[in-house]
Amino acid sequence: MCGIVAYIGRRPAVPLVVDGLRRLEYRGYDSAGLAIPDRGDKMAVHKTAGRVDDLAARLPKRLTATTAIGHTRWATHGVPSDVNAHPHLDTAGRVAVVHNGIVENAAELRARLTAEGVVFASDTDTEVLAHLIAREFAAGERGLADAVRITLGHIAGTYGIAVLDATRPDEIVVARNGSPLLLGVGEREVLAASDLSALVTHTRRVVHLQDGDLAVLRAGGYEVHRDGAPASRVPEVVDIEPMAYELGPHPHWMHKEIHEQPAAVERALTGRIDDRFATAHLGGLGLSPRETREIRRVVILGCGSAYLAGRLGAQLVEEIARIPASAEPAAEFRYRNPVIEPDTLYVAVSQSGETYDTLSAVQEVQRKGGRVVGVVGMVGSAIARECGSGIYLHAGPEVSVTSTKTYTATAVAFALLALHLGRVRDLSPADGRRLIAGLRALPGQIAEILASEKQIREVAARWASYPGMLYVGRVRGAVVASEGALKLKEVAYLHAEAYPASELKHGPLALISPDRPVVAVIPDDELRDKNLGTVAEVKARDGRVLAVGHDPELKAAADEVLVVPRNEPELDPVLLGIPLQLLAYHAAVTLGHDVDRPRNLAKSVTVE
Ligand code: F6R
Repeated sequence: MCGIVAYIGRRPAVPLVVDGLRRLEYRGYDSAGLAIPDRGDKMAVHKTAGRVDDLAARLPKRLTATTAIGHTRWATHGVPSDVNAHPHLDTAGRVAVVHNGIVENAAELRARLTAEGVVFASDTDTEVLAHLIAREFAAGERGLADAVRITLGHIAGTYGIAVLDATRPDEIVVARNGSPLLLGVGEREVLAASDLSALVTHTRRVVHLQDGDLAVLRAGGYEVHRDGAPASRVPEVVDIEPMAYELGPHPHWMHKEIHEQPAAVERALTGRIDDRFATAHLGGLGLSPRETREIRRVVILGCGSAYLAGRLGAQLVEEIARIPASAEPAAEFRYRNPVIEPDTLYVAVSQSGETYDTLSAVQEVQRKGGRVVGVVGMVGSAIARECGSGIYLHAGPEVSVTSTKTYTATAVAFALLALHLGRVRDLSPADGRRLIAGLRALPGQIAEILASEKQIREVAARWASYPGMLYVGRVRGAVVASEGALKLKEVAYLHAEAYPASELKHGPLALISPDRPVVAVIPDDELRDKNLGTVAEVKARDGRVLAVGHDPELKAAADEVLVVPRNEPELDPVLLGIPLQLLAYHAAVTLGHDVDRPRNLAKSVTVE
C-alpha cells in the first residue's frame, strides 16, 4: 500500500526511481511523485495525480541527480490530487518526505503547527512530518537522522518513510514502523523500497528493516539505528529471479499469474512429500510429533482471499486430519477479545506478510500466550518474522492486486498441513498415498483447465453484460463460490454474492431473474443431486445457470457448463476455483477495466 523508492549512488537517480515506481505501482496508483536535491539548498519536486507514466511524461529531460526519493500513492488522507501527491515539503522547501502508512495524530499535530504559523499545502497526514523535521533543524544544530528520530517520537501510527534534506544530498534517512521497508545494497549504491520488486533488478543483497529501525543511506553503505543506538542488519541474498517481475507475453499480470499456477503448485510441493511415510514434511512448522498430536483445534486468520484460502484450509484440515478447524477474518478476530486456547494451533495467512490486520491478530494471539504459525508468501516479511515458524508458499511474487496463484498455493499448503496433521493421527497410509497422488496431479490438471481458456473467455464475454451474479456451492463448493464472487467484484466491478446453495431458498431466491444469473459449483460428490435440485429451483424461476463441475452432462440442467478434471474429492475445490478466476478476468477485460489495478484497491494493505 503506497510504494516508496529511494536511491543514492553514482548513477542518475531519476530513471532508476521512476522504474522502481512502475514496478511498485500495484501498491497504489492514484498519484506519483519524486524529489531530488536541487541547487541552492532547495528540493526539486515533480508530482502529479495519476499514474507513474503521467509523472514520467512531465519530467524534464536531463535530471542528473544521483540521489532521489519517489512515491506512488494509495490515498488515505486527502483526495488523489497533484498537491496531495508525495513527496511533501516543509515551508522552506528544504526537507522532502515520502510516507507509507497513517499518522494517527496528524490532526492534533497539524493544529499545533498551524498555531505556530505553519501554512499547510496539502490535506495529507504526511505533510506534518516534513514540517516537524524542519522544526527540529530550526531548534538547533542536528543532522537529518536526529531530526527524523526526534520527529518520529511525536508520531502515533504506522510509517515507512524516506526523507531527504536538500542541504545534505549525500544521505537519505529511512525508517519503518508497521509499513514494510527494505534496503537493497549494491556496488557503491544503496536503494530503499517498500517491496522487493523495485530492488531485484539492481541487487539481490537485501536488508529487511524491522519496526523501530531508522537507517542512514549513503552511496558507500548504510547504518541502522534503533532507539538511538547502532543496530546490526546484515544483508541477505534473496532467491528471486528478476524475470519473475517481467510480464512477458501476457496482457496482464493477473493473466500471467493465473497461468503460473501449475508451476506455483509444483514449487509449493517441492521437497515436502514424504513417500515413505505417506505424509508431508513441513520442517518450518517447528512442531515436534508430540506437540502436533496435542493440537485439538486449528484456527486460521487472514484477510480477503487469504481468509478465503484459510476457509478452504480449515475444510481440508477438518476433512483430512479430523481436527476441528475454522477460519476467521483477522480484523474481526482481534477486535472481539478472542479466547486463546493452549491446544489450538493458530495459523496466519498472508501473501505479502505485511497486512496490518493479520499482523495485529498474530500479536493478539501471542500476547495471550497462544501458538501461531504463518502461511506466508514473502520470505522475511513482518508476519513471517513475527510468527517465527510456518510454511512459505514459494509461489513467486504476485504483482496483480488480485490474488490468484497465491490463493491456490495457499490451498495446497493447507492440504500439506492437513496431510501432515492427519498422518500424525488416524489418517491411514493408503489415504495418505491417495492424497499425495492427488496433490501431484494438480499441476497437470490446472494446466488442462487453463487450456480451455477460450471457452471460458466466450462465456465471460456473454455474461459480463449482466449487472450481477449469485455464486452458490455446498460444503466443498461453498468456499469456491465465495472466492469466485470476490474475484468478480474486484476486477469486473459486478455485484457478486456468494451463498451456500442450501441457503438459497431461505431468502436469496427472491433475487433470481433472467438478468441475475447463478454460478453453481457442482463437484461430483455426495451432494451433487442436492446441487442439481438447487439448479432446478433457479431454472424454475427463469434464472440462468453456469455450472462449474466435473460432469459434462451437467449441461442437461444448466445453461452453460465449465468442466474441470476430477481429483480426490478433498482436493477438488482447488481445481474448481481456477475457471472462476478466468471468468472474472475475462469479464473484466470485456468490460474494459484495468485488471491489474482495480479501482479503489491496492495490494498489501498495511493500514487498518
Ligand atoms: C483479493 C486480494 C486481497 C488479499 C488481502 C490479503 O484478491 O488480493 O483480498 O488477499 O488483502 O493480503 P495478504 O495475503 O497480502 O495478507
